[in-house]
Amino acid sequence: MALSLTGSLAAMGHSIAGDEIIKNSLANFAFENYEIAAYKSLITIAEHGGFPGLAPALKSNLEEEIAMAKWLDDNLHSVTMKFASLKEAGERAKI
Ligand SMILES: [Fe+2]
Repeated sequence: MALSLTGSLAAMGHSIAGDEIIKNSLANFAFENYEIAAYKSLITIAEHGGFPGLAPALKSNLEEEIAMAKWLDDNLHSVTMKFASLKEAGERAKI
């Protein structure tokens, strides 16, 4: 929940920026990688701390975070190029 709140606060802070979509993309990329590290740590604790039954669910969540981080990585170039082309055309990349 704390991680989700952090992401929401970052998005609110970026909403006043002209390049909100870029700032949010960067923050999301960092956030997903933070979550990957957190799940890896939790899996280690589960496996070595006497909670092996938790490991499968944590590993499932880890796979979701890795998939999301990959999606963000795969799409950062196109999002950046779309933002730049809109900016160049004098348009805004906001809803
Ligand atoms: Fe995530």
